[in-house]
Amino acid sequence: VEYPDLVVVGAGLFGLTVAQQAVEHAGARVHIIDVRDHIGGNAYSYFDEETGAEIHKYGAHLFHTSNRRVWEYVNRFTEFTGYVHRVYATHDGVVYSLPINLGTINQFFRAHYTPAEAQALIEEQAGELAGTDPANLNDKGIQLIGRPLYEAFIKNYTGKQWQTDPAELPASIIKRLPVRFNYDNRYFKDTWEGLPKDGYTKWMERMIDDPRITVSLKTDFFDESQPYNKKALREAGVPVVYTGPVDRYFDYELGDLKWRTVDFKEVRYDEGDHFGCPVMNFSDADVPYTRAIEFKNFNPERREQQNPDKTVVWEEYSRFADRGDEPYYPINTEADKALYAQYEAKAAAEPKTVFGGRLGTYKYYDMHNVIDTALTAYEQQVAPLLAAEAAK
Ligand code: FAD
Ligand code: NA
Repeated sequence: VEYPDLVVVGAGLFGLTVAQQAVEHAGARVHIIDVRDHIGGNAYSYFDEETGAEIHKYGAHLFHTSNRRVWEYVNRFTEFTGYVHRVYATHDGVVYSLPINLGTINQFFRAHYTPAEAQALIEEQAGELAGTDPANLNDKGIQLIGRPLYEAFIKNYTGKQWQTDPAELPASIIKRLPVRFNYDNRYFKDTWEGLPKDGYTKWMERMIDDPRITVSLKTDFFDESQPYNKKALREAGVPVVYTGPVDRYFDYELGDLKWRTVDFKEVRYDEGDHFGCPVMNFSDADVPYTRAIEFKNFNPERREQQNPDKTVVWEEYSRFADRGDEPYYPINTEADKALYAQYEAKAAAEPKTVFGGRLGTYKYYDMHNVIDTALTAYEQQVAPLLAAEAAK
């Protein structure tokens, strides 16, 4: 093969952003590989034929940002709907709005507290563990918002997320539990939010719609039978942007970084709308899943194209990830952080290779963070690498 100027491993938002920038600013020829059979990484979505719902294959994705550079960048490739994210929760047979706000509090206590009264009540209830330094998440939760609200909305949900009794989890997992003393139940506080008008995949296809960018799917960087593999590219001295798992790159030689994953169970209903909202959390232990996503309801502006008599819901089951699972949320214990620091040092020393994205840097990043770090990585690391090669 004749190698391109740059090989990008991973067609997620990090890799696509770097590829787009390399063409735009350096006129580079870029080849992207991905082991999956589609581009888009975890932000990929597809349209469900029966219902017309846009299904986010790797879990619900809501775009939000306060970063002007990122907002202007993404708007070059897609328009956004006016979607505003709101979440509801079922507890003890009653539906409440989240995050915990004055509406949640007044409904829960069957009261009509003013903001000041509600604040005084929560402080009093949180005082149960005042002056202590809780080591476990359960006591920390009680100390932050009081036992009644903690036990109703946080305890069992968190237990399901971690598949662990919160009394056995470290308090460090939660620093604060936001409570709003007004009726604002808008989930994100960012300046801009919305969903890509014609879907996530169309957005990401447009990012790389240029003859200088080519893509190979179902292509594993570590498979030496295909030309764009680690060993061959290293020998040929081709610059690489790597967005796969950093521990995998080094053959797990220092040990495995730990992740949580989510299993999705698809359920179909013969009705137009099952929950009346896109996201329903289940706060109690008797429902085994944490939350359910009803994808049709993310896009009410598409009602005309959706099936009025059918809907599709994905229930989410959270658990610790093994090597073969999709790594979703870094667990980030002190041991994980120390191990990542060692891998990070090895990554920095790797010639002509830039590590990025959530897997390559072992970070939980929202989409806007990934795009922002990719724009910066292009400027600070990839552009100089391409310039040095071009000067040879
Ligand atoms: P990825 O999208 O993971 O892309 C990495 C790519 O590398 C993958 O396609 C993978 O197949 C490929 N790859 C890995 N190894 C190899 C290999 N050996 N060879 C070839 N290719 C390889 N963000 C938001 O802003 N809002 C949300 O609501 C939101 N919800 C989320 C919900 C869940 C369940 C998860 C997991 C994430 C969510 N995110 C959300 C975060 C969002 O998914 C990420 O910020 C973004 O998709 C990460 O892009 P990336 O390019 O870093 O990684
Ligand atoms: Na490097």
